[in-house]
Amino acid sequence: MSTAAEQMLDLIKSRRSIRSYTSEDVSQDAVRMMLEAAMAAPSANDARPWEFVVVRDAGLRKRLARVHPWADMAASAPVVIVVLGDESSNHWVEDTSAATENILLQAAACGLGAVWVGIYPTTRYEDAVREILGIPRNRRVLCIIPVGWPAEKKGPRSRYEQGKVHNERY
Ligand SMILES: Cc1cc2nc3c(=O)[nH]c(=O)nc-3n(C[C@H](O)[C@H](O)[C@H](O)COP(=O)(O)O)c2cc1C
Repeated sequence: MSTAAEQMLDLIKSRRSIRSYTSEDVSQDAVRMMLEAAMAAPSANDARPWEFVVVRDAGLRKRLARVHPWADMAASAPVVIVVLGDESSNHWVEDTSAATENILLQAAACGLGAVWVGIYPTTRYEDAVREILGIPRNRRVLCIIPVGWPAEKKGPRSRYEQGKVHNERY
């Protein structure tokens, strides 16, 4: 019987970037769970400067897939969650990154596959996503997250490196 702490670590290690999906849809309940996880993330001054666009439309997903050469999974994933930050918050990058990791972990817990597709900090990628989805200029685009049922299997892995850990002083 593993402890809750061990189960948590197992889940964290089982989260892998999944880029290939079956044609099965992702329920609205699962999307809601991922968004609830996102909005439970820590946030500087509790400002919560995040917003999310849930994209199911195939035409829009196809266009998102063409934003850069490593985004093509957006076309085949049934859902793409786009993570936005309010740039009036100094900590929008940190806060939305924490929210993104929570989405990826919740996806893994649901048995779904997902991948963080970086958009920020490349301005032309951000502008392309803004144009496709009608996002206002004062909202930044951290990343897009294609989500679907995995059509590839990747095992959990530990990437613990003792050499990266310094005790007391560097
Ligand atoms: C900031 C950031 C940007 C990323 N951008 C992309 C991307 O554009 N396309 C992609 O396929 N994966 C992207 N990834 C996923 C990484 O390639 C992946 O996390 C890394 O290879 C480790 O594999 P793992 O997630 O399976 O542990 C990104 C990850 C991060 C954190």
